[in-house]
Amino acid sequence: MSTHIGAAAGDIAPFVLMPGDPLRAQWIAETFLDDARCYTQVRGMLGFTGTWQGQRVSVQGSGMGQPSLAIYVNELFTDYAVESVIRVGSCGALTERLAVRDLVIASGACTDSSMNRIAFEGLDYAPVADFGLLRDAAAAAAARAATRGPGGPAVHVGLIFSSDSFYAARPELAARMVDYGVLAVEMEAAALYTLAARHGRRALAICTVSDHIVTGEETTSHEREQTFGEMVEIALTAGLV
Ligand code: HPA
Repeated sequence: MSTHIGAAAGDIAPFVLMPGDPLRAQWIAETFLDDARCYTQVRGMLGFTGTWQGQRVSVQGSGMGQPSLAIYVNELFTDYAVESVIRVGSCGALTERLAVRDLVIASGACTDSSMNRIAFEGLDYAPVADFGLLRDAAAAAAARAATRGPGGPAVHVGLIFSSDSFYAARPELAARMVDYGVLAVEMEAAALYTLAARHGRRALAICTVSDHIVTGEETTSHEREQTFGEMVEIALTAGLV
């Protein structure tokens, strides 16, 4: 096992879906995977491996925030030879161009975290998604929308803001970023993208809009489950093409 993941070498698939919530990882494994087996329960941060359409997939909780995600992603890359990680999370919409239940496929992640500022001694690093995963997720979303017809969630591709604070001291700063193309706020993607680049692996974040910072609207837990399922299927399709 590694320091925070109680799995043997080979227990974790090369492709990992990563929700923040460990119980969401369990729900994904039970709902979408065949023959899912729990490989870690360390600190309650559950991880499962099973198959989807005959291909091995793991689902690993990350916890909330970049420091927590970075612990699990570092160990997945260095101790378990994981090749691709797709975060499947939630986000808050920062602009009225987005509605609750929409999906955001994050091409890049701005951040207020000091993790990269420390690593690069004050220089700014631009954490971006793997282009192939981004392209394949956008294509999978478009194909699903075309076969389903109208009524599904709108899918946006663009920048998100990975904040260290859920309860922001200065929410107007995130609002300022909207003028520069930022669509939504979450708390993990920038660290995921940075670590994937550092280790030569592939990463993407897809988020469902769970709450709207501008209008105050929120989703019900039932709605969250439905759009979460749509997002998981897009992620599985993109990660396993
Ligand atoms: N802020 C930060 N992270 C989030 C939010 C939010 O409003 N909603 C879902 N994840």
